Amino acid sequence: MILYKNDIVKFTELVSSHTKTFLLLDENTEKYCLNVLKSVDFQNVIKIVIPSGEQNKNIGTVQHIWSQLVDNHADRKSLLINIGGGMVTDIGGFAASCYQRGIDFINIPTTLLGMIDASIGGKTGIDFQGLKNQIGLFSQPLAVVILFEFLETLPKRELLSGLAEIIKYGFIVDKSFLEAKLLSYPSYPPYPSYPLYPQFIEKSIAVKDEITRNDTTEHGRRKILNFGHTIGHAIETYLIDNHEEIRHGEAVALGMVPALFLSEKYFNLDPNWTLYYKDLYAKNFNRFNLNDIPVDELIEIMRHDKKNEGGDIRFVLIEDIGKPVYDVVVKPEDIVESINYLVDYQSDENYWGK
Ligand SMILES: NC(=O)c1ccc[n+]([C@@H]2O[C@H](COP(=O)([O-])OP(=O)(O)OC[C@H]3O[C@@H](n4cnc5c(N)ncnc54)[C@H](O)[C@@H]3O)[C@@H](O)[C@H]2O)c1
Repeated sequence: MILYKNDIVKFTELVSSHTKTFLLLDENTEKYCLNVLKSVDFQNVIKIVIPSGEQNKNIGTVQHIWSQLVDNHADRKSLLINIGGGMVTDIGGFAASCYQRGIDFINIPTTLLGMIDASIGGKTGIDFQGLKNQIGLFSQPLAVVILFEFLETLPKRELLSGLAEIIKYGFIVDKSFLEAKLLSYPSYPPYPSYPLYPQFIEKSIAVKDEITRNDTTEHGRRKILNFGHTIGHAIETYLIDNHEEIRHGEAVALGMVPALFLSEKYFNLDPNWTLYYKDLYAKNFNRFNLNDIPVDELIEIMRHDKKNEGGDIRFVLIEDIGKPVYDVVVKPEDIVESINYLVDYQSDENYWGK
């Protein structure tokens, strides 16, 4: 159930039907986001604060959450409210779903990526042994509460990360999402709570909700949401393991370049779309120096991806805009070629004017 600001009464009713309420926050959402909820009268609330960042989406942090639940006598009628970006909603959903075989949780996403993607659809989990989301389960939140005010403190880089997932919807669902772009954005907070035209955020939420409600455990159409993720996830995993900064959406933005290249090769996608996206990327997203990235290691990471079976590496590709094809087995030599294409693009001065 997606709730907006006008549904706040419904939200308070949901909360009050539980014996005890726990709020899961990271240090930034504790600092910036709690005050947005000050009008909500939480009773018997206990805060659990975890360190922010993907490097903390791990079993150690889950243990900390479970310890806090045990120490504060959480029972099966307790509620965990996850207030944060995808890191907090992924780990909080996982911790709640395992605690005493599952307690209710509500997601209150505070990043753009969280609002339009991570908090919706019931994928919960943590990273393990250097592999993203390796441990986890499908478990639906009782509700997802969308409050755009949170975006007023969100740094531009986090916003761009969300923008990448919105643009992804342009390739797999509806061309109009390709027109999403940040409105004029100041360097310092407060940022605008509608950094994009509102329709892009609300339509994105509706798309993610519709696709995941009709395929809760990703056996079919839901797989299209992984467009750009096969190589994107591998790059994200590799860079984080090597202590380099990359946001989830930035990795997806990169991963869409080889996905389009492969779509040309496997499905004769009009090459103009790849050129169009390379321009769009250069105008919006950060450039990464990928010259030293070890392609064989990326392929090894991809082999561990949950979406693959029997050693094959599977991609979501597109035949045309809005016409995705999932479970496409791509030959390793083609994957290498597509990564080299991405690396060359990121070092092509014609695009970056430097
Ligand atoms: N479950 C899913 O379906 C799904 C889908 C996509 C991504 N994800 C996961 O989501 C995670 C990425 O999520 P994310 O991009 O939201 O990152 P994040 O949760 O790490 O948040 C990014 C940063 O912004 C800070 N922050 C959050 N809200 C803020 C606010 N309102 N103001 C100021 N700072 C704020 C956080 O503390 C953090 O430092 C990854 O772990 C990814 O795997 C999950």
